[in-house]
Amino acid sequence: MIRIGVIGCGHWGPNHIRIFSQLPNAETAMCSDLSDERLSTMKRLYPNIKTTKDYKEIFSSNDIDAVCIASPTNTHFTIAKEALESYKHVLCEKPLTLKPEECLILKDLALKNKRVLMVGHIFLFNPGIIWMKKYIESGELGNIYSAYAIRTNLGPFRYDVNAMWDLAPHDISIFNYLFSSYPTNVSARGQRCLGNSLEDVAFATLEYPKNLLANIHVSWLDPKKVRQITIVGDKKMVVWDDLDNVGPIKVYDKYVEKTSTFYETYGEFQLLSREGSITIPKIGLGEPLKAQAQYFVNCIEKEEPPVLADAQKGYEVVKTLCAIQQSIQANGTCVRL
Ligand SMILES: NC(=O)c1ccc[n+]([C@@H]2O[C@H](COP(=O)([O-])OP(=O)(O)OC[C@H]3O[C@@H](n4cnc5c(N)ncnc54)[C@H](O)[C@@H]3O)[C@@H](O)[C@H]2O)c1
Repeated sequence: MIRIGVIGCGHWGPNHIRIFSQLPNAETAMCSDLSDERLSTMKRLYPNIKTTKDYKEIFSSNDIDAVCIASPTNTHFTIAKEALESYKHVLCEKPLTLKPEECLILKDLALKNKRVLMVGHIFLFNPGIIWMKKYIESGELGNIYSAYAIRTNLGPFRYDVNAMWDLAPHDISIFNYLFSSYPTNVSARGQRCLGNSLEDVAFATLEYPKNLLANIHVSWLDPKKVRQITIVGDKKMVVWDDLDNVGPIKVYDKYVEKTSTFYETYGEFQLLSREGSITIPKIGLGEPLKAQAQYFVNCIEKEEPPVLADAQKGYEVVKTLCAIQQSIQANGTCVRL
């Protein structure tokens, strides 16, 4: 039985507390928050849980094996470092840290102390995303030309990081996973509509190897909640809609055929669009947060590295976010990675 301490019981932390308690080989034994009110709510929901305002108490508890960090992003590095120094395994919410070099410090520390360090890149445990990965690998989509992600809503607003740092870690981690590679350069624009110092809306273009262009649109200031990814291949096209419970994936049998490879005049060159059926594959159900928690606990038990969402993967995401931020500050100038 792996005993977990959850740090941060705001909007997201309680989901971790609930999920770990549901696993057959884990339990949430302790939780920490700065707010008495949040802690008493947790105690009411989980009468057996120990609560503390000082997260260090979790680190000094010998009966706690691992911690899950769900506090604001700007606290992740300090808390994760102290946890690893106290020989606790760590599942840290995304983004792992605010600086790439901090990710590498944590990675080295986890390796040195033989602890599991994993990042909460939850969409790598989403059945629709896993289906798309297999579909791409099967070759059915063909070569990928382009992809775009839309992640918008009206709020919730954050005060420690901008909309790109809050929302894009999901899409960057998904693209890196689907394309089995990392961006080579980025360019991005952002806007501070609500008058504070953080961008509420941003558009980033990431170039992946083989001329694959991917765009990410994030916003806290949008009339519609959208969580969608479209991938355009030269054989087929696929759209994933996380909010569509009935059929989150639609495969479009659409492509464009060139009539002639060699042509002398424009008249001889033609592009013919081919339109076949739209297929809605059956996607298995399953709660991604539970699959993520189970994977973390299994890695601890089996003493295996969490290769799906390890510190290196977290580092690649943070490095890309820093490049996007640099580009936003330089009005969209291309930044190489
Ligand atoms: N994977 C996802 O889909 C997902 C969704 C939401 C949030 N998140 C991530 O989870 C983290 C938390 O987000 P949230 O929306 O719950 O934020 P939140 O602001 O609602 O909650 C954070 C909580 O942490 C507490 N806290 C702050 N400093 C602390 C400390 N030193 N010790 C103990 N508690 C402390 C705060 O009191 C607050 O209750 C962020 O990193 C965010 O990116 C991930």
